[in-house]
Amino acid sequence: MGTAALNFVVTLGLAAPASGAPVRVVQGEGMQVRAGAVVRDAQAAGGRAVALRPAGVASATFVSDAFGAVVLRVRASRCERARSLSVSVDGGARHAIVPRAGWHEQRVRLALPAGRHAVEVAYTGPRRSRCRALVDRLRLPAPRPAKPAVEAPPAPAATPLRRPVPLGASVQARHFDDPGYEAAFRREFASMTPENEMKMEIIQPQPGVFNFGPADELVTRARQAGKAVRGHALVFGTQTPPWVGRLLLPSDAEAALRDHITTVMEHFDEDVREWDVVNEALGPDGSYRSNPWFDKLGPRYVELAFRIAREVDPKATLVYNEFAADVSGIKRDATANLVRGLKEKGLVDAVGLQMHHSLATAPTREALESTMRMYEQMGVQVQVTEMDVIAGGPGALSDRLNIQADAYRRAAETCAAVRACTRFTVWGVSDAYSWMGVDELPLLLDASNQPKPALAAVRDVLG
Ligand code: G3I
Repeated sequence: MGTAALNFVVTLGLAAPASGAPVRVVQGEGMQVRAGAVVRDAQAAGGRAVALRPAGVASATFVSDAFGAVVLRVRASRCERARSLSVSVDGGARHAIVPRAGWHEQRVRLALPAGRHAVEVAYTGPRRSRCRALVDRLRLPAPRPAKPAVEAPPAPAATPLRRPVPLGASVQARHFDDPGYEAAFRREFASMTPENEMKMEIIQPQPGVFNFGPADELVTRARQAGKAVRGHALVFGTQTPPWVGRLLLPSDAEAALRDHITTVMEHFDEDVREWDVVNEALGPDGSYRSNPWFDKLGPRYVELAFRIAREVDPKATLVYNEFAADVSGIKRDATANLVRGLKEKGLVDAVGLQMHHSLATAPTREALESTMRMYEQMGVQVQVTEMDVIAGGPGALSDRLNIQADAYRRAAETCAAVRACTRFTVWGVSDAYSWMGVDELPLLLDASNQPKPALAAVRDVLG
């Protein structure tokens, strides 16, 4: 059966012409259309859908941004499917679409530059058929951004279980009168973290009164031994001197923060190029802990501290240090969010996972690697900064020390496998002076500064 194509030219959005009746030709000429906008929504515009039967062409001519497709809202009426509906733009090729019953969108991918375009929707149906194609809305989605040339991800380097990562230890100036302590530090460790001597309660116990003596002694020993020094910690709520809490105005607290950080970083200058800028700002539920800084300045004290440190020494490695942030949970997520926010402002270089554990809580490799990979993806270094593993308690000592060694090995292997892991530091030179108490046996050397199975395990991985 021949079908005469009666060319009705209507502009979308006009009231639907009586079927077959000639219609006034009105072009939407000059319509300003933003890509992605709806050219015309007949129904929304109070009109009715344009019915095309037994044949007809609906067109819209307009000026638009570049668009990447023509999306029609169509349906077939009085038939299951309205065949022979097609879309063309600027007289180009016709793209057939087949509307089915019920309103739905059909997309024709047509990438076109900004400019003046004429879209035509043509239908040629069987002459005697009751079937008609209804066209309700023409949408022009913006072109999809060109997909970046996706380089094949580098084949994951085989995650070595061995990679040299500097092994460090926290130290206390007062223990260097123990010759075994100093010898063990020099022999086993590549860096020191002053356990207390750089904290504000010791360095600036009164406003404007700076006591650098103990820290200077440690820095001198480190320099003589060719060891690096990790500054710990410019801001630590727990060990902030009482006078800060007595400051009345937020502006006074901000000035004190700026003065402290500037004075301390400038004092140690080139001797300390890595700083725990803020230590333990978050509580177990991920909220900010109350401390003199938070109480006066709110959570902004954290970013402020990093901003000041970045200004004082743009080349220093700035670290946010936290405990109980190494395995999944509220605090890990809150720490990651805090670090991500600082990273987006270019204010942080590394996150410190303290890793204070017991035999029971020491993380699996998978759990710790998941956290470390998260920071690697974030573009942030990750460091083990204060590891100790309590091994005191009931049971055969050798068993407990072997379980402890496994815990340290897992952490070391994870650090070795994640290239973003740049330091592995334990919280003490030997069990003798651990903050946990000597009976908890938490470290790599025993109370006589002799290696334990844990040291061998760590050395085996980190070199
Ligand atoms: O120096 C005084 C001494 O004069 C006094 O006689 C003695 C008894 O009161 O106290 C000595 O100060 C102690 C100080 O360590 C130096 O030994 C403080 O009381 C004591 O509270 C302090 O503990 C330190 C603790 O931080 C304080 O928060 C630990 O040595 C130190 O290992 C620990 O380290 C923290 C990190 O900075 C942050 N991450 C957790 C880690 C363990 O808590």
